[in-house]
Amino acid sequence: MSIKNKLKSPVCQTVAELPPSGIRKFFDLVSTMKGVISLGVGEPDYVTPWHIREAGIYSLEKGYTMYTSNSGTIELREEIAKYLSNRYQVNYEPVGEVLVTTGVSEGLDLVMRAILDPGDEVIMSDPCYVSYSACVCLARGKAVQVPLRVEDNFELRAENIARYITPNTRAILLGYPSNPTGAMISREKLTEIANLAKKRGLLVISDEIYARLVYGTEELCFAALPGMRDNTILLGGFSKAYAMTGWRLGYACGNQEIIAAMTKIHQFTMLCAPITAQKAAVEALRNGDPSVKEMVEDYNRRRMLMVKGFNNIGLKTFEPKGAFYTFPSIQNTGMTSEEFSENLLKEETVLVVPGTAFGAHGEGYIRCCYATAMNDIEEALTRIKRFLSKHT
Ligand SMILES: Cc1ncc(COP(=O)(O)O)c(C=O)c1O
Repeated sequence: MSIKNKLKSPVCQTVAELPPSGIRKFFDLVSTMKGVISLGVGEPDYVTPWHIREAGIYSLEKGYTMYTSNSGTIELREEIAKYLSNRYQVNYEPVGEVLVTTGVSEGLDLVMRAILDPGDEVIMSDPCYVSYSACVCLARGKAVQVPLRVEDNFELRAENIARYITPNTRAILLGYPSNPTGAMISREKLTEIANLAKKRGLLVISDEIYARLVYGTEELCFAALPGMRDNTILLGGFSKAYAMTGWRLGYACGNQEIIAAMTKIHQFTMLCAPITAQKAAVEALRNGDPSVKEMVEDYNRRRMLMVKGFNNIGLKTFEPKGAFYTFPSIQNTGMTSEEFSENLLKEETVLVVPGTAFGAHGEGYIRCCYATAMNDIEEALTRIKRFLSKHT
């Protein structure tokens, strides 16, 4: 080992200090066990609809195996712009205002690196999706987390955000429908957030990966709220609605200057999103609606089964209006979220994720994904009921 290496860790301080994802530990445990019912992984249990897979296969047969434009194929960018215009009445120029990314994951990373100077703050909820604070931190910014309350149905409220704004605040990061709670924010409450952002000159980054997965409530696009198009970076993707997690595809839309900055980083680090996925995504946007509708109807049946099931066995669960997660309270068990999840896995081989994996204010809750077969949900409920009878 050289003297230099003895004195300094090979890993930079920012990464060394970044806590590992609280989900990973449980997935590592599961890989050593048999017969586990997983309510843990946040991804559809469907494979990508056949007509979309076929479009990907056909593109390979035709020899589409090369790089695309850094911004994505113009065919896909035009299709994304058309889709957002038809569905939400928000209009983007395919050239300059749309960037095709390798999933919303890359979009999140790019936008943070494009807008943050060291020490700039981004406001987000607690609990929230595991990557949000990590992406801010890796961009040398500071994640500022606003606690959510079950009394507010886990909606992030403008009046609470306002309390956390400082001269260093650069942006508000929203993710609705929410991972991990399944909560939506109503149009009225989103408009209050929009008005606050406008008044305080803050950018809003809106992660709309679950936008299509809503139940009995309207689908909302933040950029479509009056006056918000140019103040919002919309992050959208194909992973959840079209069951395309492995294709790694998403998009970012918004203000030309920010999209240009994101494209600059993307061209040096990613170059472009995979062409096969881009070809398949065009088919998803053109003809995917019936498949999405079918999956959403199915998720809705499973959602109702799980919410009712948890409430019946004594775990109080609020009704989530979107995504595919429930967020039951385990407070009456006297265990922490982590203890509950670990004991449940070891004793009854059911995998759930502790609420604390998504922030300190997830304590007292567990996240359960219902993108799982009905009979597995029923069996998981039976096992959890048995677990509760031993522990409460
Ligand atoms: C809220 C949220 N945003 C982004 C992502 C990542 O999406 P993608 O597969 O498009 O990278 C996920 C994945 O679970 C998510 O839950």
